[in-house]
Formats: sequence, structure tokens, C-alpha cells
Amino acid sequence: MPFRLRGMLWACAIAAGLFAPARASGTEQPTRPAEPDGKALFTEKTCVTCHAIGGPSAGAGPELTQVALHRDHAWLVAWLTDPPAIKKDTDMPRLKWDSPDQMETIIAYLVSAQKPVPAADSSDGQKLFADYRCGACHRLNGKGGKPQFSDLTALGKKRDAATIEKWISDPQGAKKGTFMPAFKLSTAERGALVKFLYVKK
Ligand code: HEC
Ligand code: HEC
Repeated sequence: MPFRLRGMLWACAIAAGLFAPARASGTEQPTRPAEPDGKALFTEKTCVTCHAIGGPSAGAGPELTQVALHRDHAWLVAWLTDPPAIKKDTDMPRLKWDSPDQMETIIAYLVSAQKPVPAADSSDGQKLFADYRCGACHRLNGKGGKPQFSDLTALGKKRDAATIEKWISDPQGAKKGTFMPAFKLSTAERGALVKFLYVKK
């Protein structure tokens, strides 16, 4: 074989990877970037200064333990992208995101925080109020809530049962554009919550 042709064959073989070292197998894994951690991001992005997960928050924002029960994925993306576009006078700032993945990691963390509401509580309004964390926003009998949301103490003095029911079953129907979220409640749960809140003193 002429020298030049032999050289070309070698070059082709190398390009085709025929002489690449044998691939590592078994224990050796290719290096991957570290898994982003939603909990760490919750601190890094300053969410913790206003919110908490797993208990009441000390800051201006509601606790987010059960947020995924009343806000769906699309709403969370819209809110985390531009809070004032949804609630004009909100204290929640427009945060900077390094990537869509980073926002998704925080959303996944919020979703993972939620606790199922036991079916056994369906007729216990007080328990439901706690299970759904209505107190993340609303003050009741001197406990919980945030000042920008209404105090639901003795609500029966101001509202009839039908109005309370309307707010709980269809907030946007009660007041278009309200920040009050729609909860997926059974008829029994709605009835129990109305009964619990329709208090006159
Ligand atoms: C400076 C305070 C502040 C910071 C920082 C902040 N928030 Fe908020 N957030 C609020 C307030 C206040 C509300 C409630 C809306 C209102 O009253 O204006 C809210 C509402 C929310 C809601 C909707 C809650 C619900 O039950 O509907 C989510 C979700 C949320 N924030 C997530 C986050 C995340 C995630 C971060 C960090 C990336 C963050 N927030 C940072 C103040 C803050
Ligand atoms: C993310 C915050 C938030 C959460 C969580 C929330 N609400 Fe509300 N709710 C609001 C807002 C905003 C309004 C409109 C009036 C106001 O500003 O408080 C409202 C209004 C209401 C009203 C009408 C009050 C009135 O004065 O007529 C009722 C009743 C009510 N909510 C019940 C509930 C119940 C029950 C739950 C839990 C299943 C709940 N809310 C959870 C934000 C919230």
C-alpha cells in the first residue's frame, strides 16, 4: 500500500473512534451537574424572608405548605414570573431566575410540601380550615392570617351564609380578579366550612 493511503486509513480509523480507550463500565458514572435542591433555592432566592413551609410564616407572605392544593402549575409559573401582573399592589417582588429549570425546581419543592386532606375531616369545618391552611391568609379568632387579607372572625355578623358559600365555592364569581384562590372542595367540605365560618359573635 502506498504510504499516503496507509496514513489516510489510520486517520479514518482514529476519526471513527476505533482506537478510543474502552468505555468505563460499572461503578464509574459520567460526571453530572449536582441536582438542584428546591429547599436550598427557597433560601437562596429569599423566599424564606417572607414565606415558610410546614408552619406559619413570620413575613408578609402566607405559609406555602398547602399552596399546590389551590394553585395549579400554570398559575405558579405566571405568579413566579411576574407577581404584580396578577396582584397589582403585592409586596412580592419580581425575582430574577437563572433558567426556567430553576423556577421548576422551586415549584416541584412547593408541590412536594403538600399534605393530603383526610377524607375523615370532610364534615369538620375547623379541621378543614386547618388542613387547607385557610389561616395562611385569613386571621380567625386572633390567630394566623396576614393583615392584607380579611379577618374571618364572626363573619356571620357581616355576611349571610349564601355569600360565604359563594366565596368558598367560586371566588372569581364573588369578585372578579380576587386573589382568593379556588379550592377543589367536595359538597360536604364546602358545607362544613360555611357552617364553621357562619358565626355571629
Ligand atoms: C418580600 C416578600 C416576599 C418574597 C421575598 C417572596 N414572596 Fe411570595 N408572596 C409574598 C406575598 C405578600 C404574597 C401574597 C400576595 C400579597 O398579599 O400580595 C406572596 C404570595 C406567594 C405565592 C402564592 C400563595 C398562595 O397561597 O396563593 C407563592 C406561590 C409565592 N408567594 C412564592 C414565593 C417564592 C417561591 C418566593 C421566592 C422565589 C417568594 N414567594 C418570595 C411575599 C413575598
Ligand atoms: C392566598 C390567600 C388566601 C387563602 C389561602 C384563602 N383565602 Fe379566602 N380570601 C382571600 C382573599 C384575597 C379574599 C378577598 C377578601 C380579602 O381581601 O380578604 C378572600 C375572601 C374570603 C371570604 C370572604 C370574606 C368576606 O369578608 O366576605 C371567605 C369566606 C374566605 N375567603 C374563605 C376562605 C377559606 C374557607 C379558605 C380556605 C379553604 C380561604 N379563604 C383561603 C385570600 C385567601
